[in-house]
Amino acid sequence: MALPPGFAQEGTTMSHSPSTKRAVAVAAASLTALALSGTAVQAAAPDPTLRSEAPRDLKIGSAVWGQRDLLDHDRKNPTEFQQILAAEFDSLTPENDMKWAEIHPEPDVYDFSGADALMEFAQANGQEVRGHTLLWHSQNPDWVTEAAETWTCDEARDVLEDHVRTVVGRYAGDIYEWDVANELIQDEWDAGGVQLRTEANPFLKSCSEDPVGLIGDVFRWTHEEDPDSVLFLNDYNAEGINAKTDAYYALAQELLADGVPLHGFGAQGHLSLQYGFDESMQANFERFADLGLKVAVTEADVRMPLGEDGEPTPEQIALQAERYDKMLQACLNVASCTSFTVWGFDDGRSWVPDVFPEGYATIMTEDYEKKPAYDVLLEGLTDATPGKSPRTPPGLNT
Ligand code: G3I
Repeated sequence: MALPPGFAQEGTTMSHSPSTKRAVAVAAASLTALALSGTAVQAAAPDPTLRSEAPRDLKIGSAVWGQRDLLDHDRKNPTEFQQILAAEFDSLTPENDMKWAEIHPEPDVYDFSGADALMEFAQANGQEVRGHTLLWHSQNPDWVTEAAETWTCDEARDVLEDHVRTVVGRYAGDIYEWDVANELIQDEWDAGGVQLRTEANPFLKSCSEDPVGLIGDVFRWTHEEDPDSVLFLNDYNAEGINAKTDAYYALAQELLADGVPLHGFGAQGHLSLQYGFDESMQANFERFADLGLKVAVTEADVRMPLGEDGEPTPEQIALQAERYDKMLQACLNVASCTSFTVWGFDDGRSWVPDVFPEGYATIMTEDYEKKPAYDVLLEGLTDATPGKSPRTPPGLNT
């Protein structure tokens, strides 16, 4: 696996293991033979990757679970998964490691092991990190959900502030974007309709008289601890213009009017082929950008129901590629779109089959075979980069 220029794994360029010496000797012999035969010798161009083709300062990211996949990282001997993660992406999102239940499992216990492993991996490979997440109704430890039954608002605020300052402060300066608040608003189909998840979120529930005030304070604490980080609201079913994103638009306006350091709006991009694609995604991004916010695709994947053989049909494979492409184009077409992140890149690690009777959601198979969805993303990024010549994605050849 070729790593992007400048990101060779430590040790691979300087060490002189027997195999390296052998490779150098073989290469030297080949060069000599070519020179003797009079053939012009040119250095082979590195294979294009998603990160190498990305235009402007757009970051191309993947979620990764540090606790599961990076604790064993050895810079001199990375796993195949780690090599692909380093080669293809220049932004990482901790899939679980910074969630409350993982990083703050007991009132006085923080476990930074997974998050630290991810930060170290990112540093070793010239990658940025998107923090995820500080205020969410899900994946809270039992001690939080139990305490929330009796917390006063002041008690909940104190616990939340301590957590935010501890976690954000630890990684201050190293996290370029934070999903500060995740999935704050319900969907039309939820009981009670589109509204803040005040009942489900233990902190908002404890401060139900002024939940928006508490949300604003979480952004303020985050900003105080890490003034350079771009602070996001983030949610699913938030791609197009709909009742939920209308509510986010109103919330963003309210927070901005209150002087809250809100800087971005993230659409997760968890799509299923069971549903159509909302073509208003770009227009939705544009309206948030017009508020002065950055926008991002933060958790893209495209799942589908599979047949009894567990395989997708050719039509599903092509449609999946098209959906990924549409999300990428919505981002590329809005100058304020800062990052495009897939929620894991290989089916073997995808969260989807654990939750839905669907699968094949990511851009590579469990054997890391690139799908047409990968090819389409590479093509879209290449096309958007001045000076790069468009290529026909190999997976789409007929
Ligand atoms: O908590 C235990 C942990 O202690 C143990 O080490 C581990 C061993 O397998 O299990 C842990 O629980 C898992 C948890 O992630 C880790 O925090 C759960 O079994 C697992 O179901 C859980 O799933 C995650 C899910 O969020 C819930 O937090 C998925 O991996 C993750 O992909 C998913 O990500 C969310 C985004 O954060 C927000 N948007 C939706 C997206 C998909 O649901």
